[in-house]
Amino acid sequence: AKKAVLGPLVGAVDQGTSSTRFLVFNSKTAELLSHHQVEIKQEFPREGWVEQDPKEILQSVYECIEKTCEKLGQLNIDISNIKAIGVSNQRETTVVWDKLTGEPLYNAVVWLDLRTQSTVESLSKRIPGNNNFVKSKTGLPLSTYFSAVKLRWLLDNVRKVQKAVEEDRALFGTIDSWLIWSLTGGVSGGVHCTDVTNASRTMLFNIHSLEWDKELCEFFGIPMKILPNVRSSSEIYGLMKAGALEGVPISGCLGDQSAALVGQMCFQDGQAKNTYGTGCFLLCNTGRKCVFSEHGLLTTVAYKLGRDKPVYYALEGSVAIAGAVIRWLRDNLGIIKSSEEIEKLAKEVGTSYGCYFVPAFSGLYAPYWEPSARGIICGLTQFTNKCHIAFAALEAVCFQTREILDAMNRDCGIPLSHLQVDGGMTNNKILMQLQADILYIPVVKPSMPETTALGAAMAAGAAEGVGVWSLEPEDLSAVTMERFEPQINAEESEIRYSTWKKAVMKSMGWVT
Ligand code: G3P
Repeated sequence: AKKAVLGPLVGAVDQGTSSTRFLVFNSKTAELLSHHQVEIKQEFPREGWVEQDPKEILQSVYECIEKTCEKLGQLNIDISNIKAIGVSNQRETTVVWDKLTGEPLYNAVVWLDLRTQSTVESLSKRIPGNNNFVKSKTGLPLSTYFSAVKLRWLLDNVRKVQKAVEEDRALFGTIDSWLIWSLTGGVSGGVHCTDVTNASRTMLFNIHSLEWDKELCEFFGIPMKILPNVRSSSEIYGLMKAGALEGVPISGCLGDQSAALVGQMCFQDGQAKNTYGTGCFLLCNTGRKCVFSEHGLLTTVAYKLGRDKPVYYALEGSVAIAGAVIRWLRDNLGIIKSSEEIEKLAKEVGTSYGCYFVPAFSGLYAPYWEPSARGIICGLTQFTNKCHIAFAALEAVCFQTREILDAMNRDCGIPLSHLQVDGGMTNNKILMQLQADILYIPVVKPSMPETTALGAAMAAGAAEGVGVWSLEPEDLSAVTMERFEPQINAEESEIRYSTWKKAVMKSMGWVT
């Protein structure tokens, strides 16, 4: 049968911490036509360590692309209409590979990993109290979260990495770089690049000059020759070298939280979104200004949509554990068999019955930045059952969001009137209602929650030389939204929130 022609299509890779997806959108309507998803394994070789296999990640991308193309074929859609591919990715996760063999030289050290805690402590002592040049240049607090210290650990501890650096064979990259290098040909001509948003999460990148920073590289002891070229978030980096989409340009690249900001169309100063993935990340566009937080938020590059386009910045509240707590209940406690079951359990009781769960598995990120915190479940009685714990886990995601929203409101001066949300967990209606109750403002969710992939597709489709997606405001047609209004009174919401804060205090200082 003759295949239907829909006009230009754009594909997007969404490589998250928990899963990889490939999605194909119609560039004229932003309609999602087809997608495929594969879960990614996480390894915990020691307490606090989190690793992933870079080859499994790459393989999952190929698998998702092939399967999505097959599904499009079944829908009678010709894949030759796919004109560009965007990449969005879990940020900070660090890979070093051999450019001659294409082999990773160690597992990917995941953003959640805590092995560099002592490195961070000793480096902190070398930063003068009156001149925190790391913070002023990068917008980031010195933390295990960012790539520089992970890379330092690899250089100090992995002989294969040391040897490859000495022999000029080593390349460093966050997941975007690893994927783009591999997809554009790897050992036979792969392009070694990253974009400004991903670079801004390494702690080696000067967010004002938009270049790798010599002083920072010296401070962390990182050889600059292994760093990728930094490009804008929307330009042609190279062409797909193999597979069903061979020859299609890769022309969009954004860290997943920046991609979601774009996908939620938060292009104006003061517009914000909160994405519920493995972690939870609230980003507020601060326009062309770098705003520095007084309340524990990060300053980060939001996007730069074209080589000659201006850079935009964001304030970010980062929460390490959101969806990951549900996966933990599934994989470590076995109280649910699939993540979706959490909603059913929570619904059965409709309350945590005084149980509070602080999932500080990787310490606490914003606004505390406290690596010594560890997870606690408290307020238990003989009455408590797994349903209450499930409810408390969902509430924890909402309380953590409340903490970063409060910090954002204080930094911005103008409180957000509603919260735009997205990400896999937003399909959970109980979570969304709880979130509105705990924030005491409406929570607004687009009917198509795959905004991370949409943002990457928009960047790819809008790139110079592709030009199938226009980012002009009139083209950003009104998206249908679902709204959740607060249903409990403000006083009740405050009481719950203050008990949560007591629980947070108990989680801190657990390890010294
Ligand atoms: O900074 C980490 C973040 O990019 C991970 O995103 O979607 O895997 O929770 P996600």
